[in-house]
Amino acid sequence: MNIEFALAGASLPRLVAQPIAEGALPASAGPVVTGAASAARFTGKPGQVFEVFVEQDGGVQRQAYVGTGEATAADRRAGLERAGGALAAKYLASGEETLAIDFAGSHLSADDAAAVLLGARLRSWQYLVYRTRLKDEQKPSLTRVVAVNAPAGTEDVWAVESAIAEGVEFTRELVTEPANVIYPESFVARCRERLEGTGVEIVVLDETQMAELGMGALLGVAQGSVRKPRILAMRWKGRAGAKPTAFVGKGVTFDTGGISIKPAAGMEDMKWDMGGAAAVAGTMLALAKRKAGADVIGVCGLVENMPDGNAQRPGDVVTSMSGQTIEVINTDAEGRLVLCDALTWVQKEYQPATIVDLATLTGAMIISLGHEHAGMFSNDDLLASQLDGAGKASGDTLWRMPMGPAYDKLIDSPIADIKNVGPRYGGSITAAQFLARFVDKGVAWAHLDIAGTVWIDKPGATHDKGATGFGVRLLDRYVRDVLEA
Ligand code: BES
Ligand code: MN
Ligand code: ZN
Repeated sequence: MNIEFALAGASLPRLVAQPIAEGALPASAGPVVTGAASAARFTGKPGQVFEVFVEQDGGVQRQAYVGTGEATAADRRAGLERAGGALAAKYLASGEETLAIDFAGSHLSADDAAAVLLGARLRSWQYLVYRTRLKDEQKPSLTRVVAVNAPAGTEDVWAVESAIAEGVEFTRELVTEPANVIYPESFVARCRERLEGTGVEIVVLDETQMAELGMGALLGVAQGSVRKPRILAMRWKGRAGAKPTAFVGKGVTFDTGGISIKPAAGMEDMKWDMGGAAAVAGTMLALAKRKAGADVIGVCGLVENMPDGNAQRPGDVVTSMSGQTIEVINTDAEGRLVLCDALTWVQKEYQPATIVDLATLTGAMIISLGHEHAGMFSNDDLLASQLDGAGKASGDTLWRMPMGPAYDKLIDSPIADIKNVGPRYGGSITAAQFLARFVDKGVAWAHLDIAGTVWIDKPGATHDKGATGFGVRLLDRYVRDVLEA
């Protein structure tokens, strides 16, 4: 979807939409429009759309009105994005190629107008590269959104927002690709390709280097697969001086469960078990594209978890890079085994002051919070509140979960330093406790369990069904509000 800006007085396409705040449809719209609005019960609620066809110069003009919600609501930004998203959803395959959004008389700010445009762009994203037999009426027709009479400064705001959109779209693409296409090496290749020329520095570790570093936990997961594991580090150094911030993502490009194999039904979902790594990659793209004034390292731990004659067994003991030994009770609790070595490595290599990891770590997280919030676990109240704020502002919302010594002792092992699963209950928390044992003293750390938010089977305000791109807007907002403040 291309977002463009037109000067006042430019000729308009057939389809023109106007954003309308709750109860603010102007009388000047005329009796046909106001009558149609009341017939359609349109009041301007977020995402409500109605349209009228009017005759103009002997042709037909399609006038749409979209609700943006209460002008003073606390979540008015969400209403604006929802409005743009609703227009995109309605007209994506409508046959119309161009949608003009006319901001004249809307009383919106540049930020507001850009939020409408962002909603439209994000909601219209689809990945159709493998759909070779779509019927004409199923194909998206809408390729352009033209902002008309946009408030002064909207283009400048959009320059930033479009970088975020690119990041979100890249994340969705990585998440949507099947596991025969995206595996550790091809994940790295796709990132190299997309980050080329952006100024992001890339470091990649192969199996031999990881073995030399002693990453026995990550390598134990990888050993059942013919796909070779990788660690991918991407650094955007938009500021010198202070210690960097690290974002670390779980990149299990397919999770069969390994020898502790998962049931067949729904296993295809495990192609998106790399959603944390994808969010990290998308964030790095966004930060570089908007030239963020922050020093950020994105690390992806990339492996495939397969059953095989060479796969690790339940009961195996592996030695992590930290030196801690781990009893692998369940080979399906592999995410933490990948992340622990990625965490140790990033701390040794880059000495970050702050680490945020993102992982589709536990099914239990989906049981706890559904698809509306990701779970947040942190050793630092300030970081937790900053991330919570970034979540609320971005729409990638978080809910803080508890941690503590009573949970920690549940993962003590009789044969090794730690075991990779605890008892059945509180599974998301014991997973977080496992990671916490690999975080150095003095490092502010948060773990985001995004199992419920990476992929949603039904469309939302700013995404179609499928990959949401969760995490990119959250991390970008954190960088803007905390690191660049
Ligand atoms: N990738 C899964 C978690 C997951 C499940 C994410 C469903 C999204 C949807 C993870 O590797 C896993 O298998 N976790 C196990 C842990 C258990 C063995 C302690 C789980 O949640 O069942
Ligand atoms: Mn698993
Ligand atoms: Zn997994």
